Amino acid sequence: MCRRCRAVQLTDEVPREKMFHDEYPFRTSSSAWMSSHFAKVAAQLVDTLRSPDPFVVEIGCNDGTMLETFAERGIRHLGIDPAANLVAEAGARGVLARPGFFEPATAAEIRAEHGPAEVVYAANTMCHIPYLDEIFAGLDALLGDDGILVFEDPYLGDVLRLGSYDQLYDEHFYLFSATSVACIAESHGFALIDVEHIGVHGGELRYTVGRRDRRRPTPAVDRWIAGEASEGVHDLARLASFAAEIGERRDRLRRALQDERAAGRSIAGYAATAKSATVLNYCGIGPDLLPVIYDTTPEKQGRLTPGSGIPVEPFPTGPDGYPDTFLLFAWNHAEEIMAKEQEFVARGGRWIRYVPDVLVG
Ligand code: TYD
Repeated sequence: MCRRCRAVQLTDEVPREKMFHDEYPFRTSSSAWMSSHFAKVAAQLVDTLRSPDPFVVEIGCNDGTMLETFAERGIRHLGIDPAANLVAEAGARGVLARPGFFEPATAAEIRAEHGPAEVVYAANTMCHIPYLDEIFAGLDALLGDDGILVFEDPYLGDVLRLGSYDQLYDEHFYLFSATSVACIAESHGFALIDVEHIGVHGGELRYTVGRRDRRRPTPAVDRWIAGEASEGVHDLARLASFAAEIGERRDRLRRALQDERAAGRSIAGYAATAKSATVLNYCGIGPDLLPVIYDTTPEKQGRLTPGSGIPVEPFPTGPDGYPDTFLLFAWNHAEEIMAKEQEFVARGGRWIRYVPDVLVG
């Protein structure tokens, strides 16, 4: 945790080209719920637009799921994403998008071509970017005088509350909070002007940031910052007890898997999420404890999980091919998955979860 701004962050930085490239496997549209979430976000953003011919930019636009609403409504927009494979898919949806990383030079180029942006939006992207100085320099170049940056990312407070340690992985460089984002924004000539809690991905905050002194902050900003102080979200003792608790949970998860196997039940992982890499490696779970993980993403199928070497395969076509027990890695999509997998449960299928605690049944 940075002693000045309080952002919780990784100490090792993986070169961005190794993580974000034209074989990037995560697709926003792989979750029906996330697609409907982003349709709602887009509708909300449309409501905030003030100018007669607004221009909206999305950093990390992925396959264009969010910007599609803008394209359909004929609103000027541009997505930017280093995953050229997904930028092509965004184009196929009618979304204007370009491959690349968002940098000051790119931002200036975009402004020269399209004019100032009224809204820059980023979902699950800002926390992936260690070099925030350059991002803010780019925003300074691109945003109009009253333009805003709206971004949503996993929330430190929720990670501590749920013990969702699997939110910590190479791509998630930062775990933000209202306190840290306010400080980061201020040190770049901007200000945090609104905060909203959203339920997706295990609990996120959506931050709205504008140029300093251009827009009045809502009361939610002070309320969230005061709440974080009173809950001790940035206290070192709280972070230490989080570490101790997940250490115990690691042992319980290993035991749960061993017990299932000892009882003769077959086990498979449900979804090869990025988060699962943390769980598998931290808990020392390999193919001996978990022989396979199923995932709907074609790019992940036929590969092995990093470090732990578990094969990733498409889901069996009928419930007959299903295991007795699933270890649920995509716990942030639990509602969507439970609605889909009612037959598995009706046939006596069991779930192992590890957030907010190890639960079997
Ligand atoms: P996500 O929840 O975004 O987690 P992370 O950021 O940790 O990767 O990833 C979702 C993954 O889960 C993606 O690989 C697709 C997969 N998935 C399924 O296989 N089936 C499903 O029903 C859902 C909702 C997701």
